[in-house]
Amino acid sequence: MAAPTWITIFDTSLRDGEQAPGFSMRAAEKLRMARQLDGLGVDIIEAGFPIASDGDYAAVRAVAADVRRPVIAALARAASGDVERAAEALDCAPRPRIHVFLATSDLHLRDKLRISHAQCLDQAADAVQLARRYVDDVEFSAEDATRSDQPFLCAVASAVVAAGASTVNLPDTVGYALPPEITDMFAAIRERVGPGVTLSAHCHDDLGMAVANSLAAVQAGARQVECTVNGIGERAGNASLEEIVMALHVRQDRLPFQTRIRTSQLCATSRVLSDIVSVPVPPNKAIVGANAFAHEAGIHQDGVLKNPLTYEIMRPETVGVAGSRLVLGKHSGARGVDARCRALGFHLRPEALARVYARLVATADQVKAIEDVHIIDAVSADHTAVQELRPCV
Ligand code: KIV
Ligand code: ZN
Repeated sequence: MAAPTWITIFDTSLRDGEQAPGFSMRAAEKLRMARQLDGLGVDIIEAGFPIASDGDYAAVRAVAADVRRPVIAALARAASGDVERAAEALDCAPRPRIHVFLATSDLHLRDKLRISHAQCLDQAADAVQLARRYVDDVEFSAEDATRSDQPFLCAVASAVVAAGASTVNLPDTVGYALPPEITDMFAAIRERVGPGVTLSAHCHDDLGMAVANSLAAVQAGARQVECTVNGIGERAGNASLEEIVMALHVRQDRLPFQTRIRTSQLCATSRVLSDIVSVPVPPNKAIVGANAFAHEAGIHQDGVLKNPLTYEIMRPETVGVAGSRLVLGKHSGARGVDARCRALGFHLRPEALARVYARLVATADQVKAIEDVHIIDAVSADHTAVQELRPCV
């Protein structure tokens, strides 16, 4: 059997994730989340941006001192002050990584940084060289890579690798790229830097393609994916960790890659983050939303009761959800009502079930969802049904 191809999961919930308005985390909160990410099995935790504030510096130090298994990364602009601050924040980490970034697109160089291509090349290489004086593990990110001139991006990648970077990250900083463009970019850089360098994807979700683009990058040779729990991050967010991991897990036929994530911890991790940032998980969020394994339509309920695979592509237990939920509403059928009645201890004969079902459909026009209390009321309101009640066998 061929050896598995591993994908490194680089979680940036504590850095890019907390850059979203309203998502910032204090040191104790970052530490709680970092412990949860450790339990989840992520390979790398980007704990923060130490030059940004004294609080973030302290948070990175606290995570580096406490969470010993994963690599702990700290972000730095390609500037000596940033790199030195990141190195200091990481000095007690057993496996520190300094993550240096500099924009490479003409737009950013001309209008934001006001530097030339030559200055960008020198600044990137100098910062990586400086970071290598402190740590062995240096990652370079070419901010706005997907809108950069490709020959120039190749030149930057070569320069930072020559300066000592072992990982080159090619972010879709503004969520602009389409999957085929990601494929082309990764193929071009892979050819330029050779097989010894780890290529990494970091995709934003402005057009809703962050996960698709991350998977395209993996197919084109990326072996590290940067992502966040619940997809939090700047603007529309980053690629969602749970979606990438489960896409790789479920679609082994087309994506024969492995991660070290304990998938049974995905739901709990999503809830811990939601609790820390006080932002609820949208019910329709893939994998971890409350509706991800809920079925209301009668046809779906009937299918799931006969064989869950009819409407579920993964078992809820695989991602740490106790089980599927049959939600009763106006789209539900008698079969789903019967299953919920039985779960509550009501075993109804067909005629009584039909009447209880009709009563519940009428209620469903008035309320958002049928709760257990509505079922109990509908059964008790049916004199014959009550008389016929007998224990479930
Ligand atoms: O989106 C981006 O380009 C980033 C870099 C700092 C990696 O977050
Ligand atoms: Zn980003």
